[in-house]
Amino acid sequence: MEKITRIAIDGPVGAGKSTIAEAAAKRLGFIHVDTGSLYRAIGVHCKENGCDVYDDSAVFEHIEKAGVDISLRFTEGEQRVFVNGADFTDKIRTPEASMLASRVSANPRVREFLLELQRSFALNNSVIMDGRDIGTVVLPEAEIKIFLTATPEERAKRRYDELTEKGAKTDYEEVLNDLNKRDYDDSHRASAPLKRADDAVLVDTTGNAFEQSVEEIVGLINEKFNR
Ligand code: DC
Repeated sequence: MEKITRIAIDGPVGAGKSTIAEAAAKRLGFIHVDTGSLYRAIGVHCKENGCDVYDDSAVFEHIEKAGVDISLRFTEGEQRVFVNGADFTDKIRTPEASMLASRVSANPRVREFLLELQRSFALNNSVIMDGRDIGTVVLPEAEIKIFLTATPEERAKRRYDELTEKGAKTDYEEVLNDLNKRDYDDSHRASAPLKRADDAVLVDTTGNAFEQSVEEIVGLINEKFNR
């Protein structure tokens, strides 16, 4: 059997983790797992079903006892996320879904609920998995760990451009404030906070064009495996 390779990419909001990981995974023939989509799907599903995301016990009851089933499907390298069979992929990309995700991700029981699911993707596939705690908690034995970042201003600018391109009405200051709040919350929660693993390579993409960042990540991976 071919050897399984696990690449962990963590970092703050808008560092480009998912888009860069997706492009790098396509080049390497790995699957890309965007773990943020799982927290987003839980947050949106809770909201749609009248469950208060600030009430940790209610959220747990909702996902565990009511039997919320989350799955990912991969078609031609692209990931889609399903909750109880319904496709949530498109509706989890709003600023509201970002905040709901950040909130439910601070709930230790939600994190525990998603842990085995995330690990299961790396059992039989070579993966590039991105999130906040992949190198520290989900795949601590990953062969390569990358901590991807950029200045908050550059990350906010990228996020702002992405949202306005999709026709969303927002302003740059609001995006920057949301991003700073989410980074603060994600790195200060008690359970698996965002932090760079001791053995993670720091990659700062400030000022980089997208392709340059993909090149750098693919280069790091090829270098490690002498390919
Ligand atoms: O990467 P993202 O913006 O889609 O993630 C949404 C939220 O989910 C983020 O604010 C923090 C949380 N998250 C997490 O706690 N752990 C992960 N592995 C991935 C995301």
